Amino acid sequence: MIDGDDDVRCGRDHRFAKHGGYLDFSQELDKGGTTERTFSSFGYEWNAFDEVRGEDERFAEIYFRDLDLDSLNSKIGLDAGCGKGRFTRLLAAHLAMEVALDGSSAVEAAARNLGEYSNVTVVQSDLRNAPFARESFDFISSLGVLHHLDDPYDGFRRLSSFLAPKGQILLYLYSRPAQIGVRSIALRVATMLRMVTVRFPHKFLKRLSTPIGGLLYWSFVIPGRWGERRGVDALARLPMDTYRDKPFRSLVLDTFDRLSAPVEYRYVWKELEQWFSDTGLIVDAARDETGWFILAHKP
Ligand SMILES: C[S@@+](CC[C@H](N)C(=O)[O-])C[C@H]1O[C@@H](n2cnc3c(N)ncnc32)[C@H](O)[C@@H]1O
Repeated sequence: MIDGDDDVRCGRDHRFAKHGGYLDFSQELDKGGTTERTFSSFGYEWNAFDEVRGEDERFAEIYFRDLDLDSLNSKIGLDAGCGKGRFTRLLAAHLAMEVALDGSSAVEAAARNLGEYSNVTVVQSDLRNAPFARESFDFISSLGVLHHLDDPYDGFRRLSSFLAPKGQILLYLYSRPAQIGVRSIALRVATMLRMVTVRFPHKFLKRLSTPIGGLLYWSFVIPGRWGERRGVDALARLPMDTYRDKPFRSLVLDTFDRLSAPVEYRYVWKELEQWFSDTGLIVDAARDETGWFILAHKP
């Protein structure tokens, strides 16, 4: 329950004060450990690229394609790993109440971007130790998050435990191609680059993301867009097609994101299918569009 601007009161009448627009349930982290480096990377990213832009809505069309947004009315949601809150905002327009949770200082950007939504509470906490009772949420989204954990399946199990019976969960997870092709080669090159770039100072990497993003834009996005318009199949099939109708800056942001996050796992469906069967969740939709968009529910 939200109590005025600064306090949140739980069902047992415990009060929690907000500072800077969010509730701080952050935990002590090992200096230089994976979690600390991950939070440092994303805290920098979402405060440096903190504006919510028009293209975020276009990305949302891809993220929410399998979800009936109207069915969220009167439901309580959790956006776990909300970043700057670009997708939390869209969900907040449909949900009765929503918690925007992130472990990093991205919550500062989220609090700025979500301030106008009185039904949203921003919380800083690691999702694996989040201060919620089991089965608290009717809807959970976790978009581009679990593949950055050192044990993604463990994070998935924790999130599933917060889901109420009949509740829905929407995930976005990186995919890897099952066969060799342009995309698998590009991903291999990116993996090699990442071995160096994850160690770069964030400010330097942000600068570097513009020329690297430019190289990708001219090598894949522009020829791909041209091929699509002119019906040249070989070019139309080039990777990075999601950027063809987005501004260059969205690729700069994603270049920083890919080259900065210390941990990244990629999946084929067979591996993920197991997660759902092992936790007893039913998959309603799963598609790979340079990443897995999965909608599932708890029976
Ligand atoms: C790639 S960003 C995605 C942000 C947002 N969902 C979006 O799509 O714009 C991943 C986010 O997950 C957060 N994150 C990563 N590990 C987390 C954890 N263990 N607990 C909570 N948040 C975490 C990061 O801080 C980061 O903001």
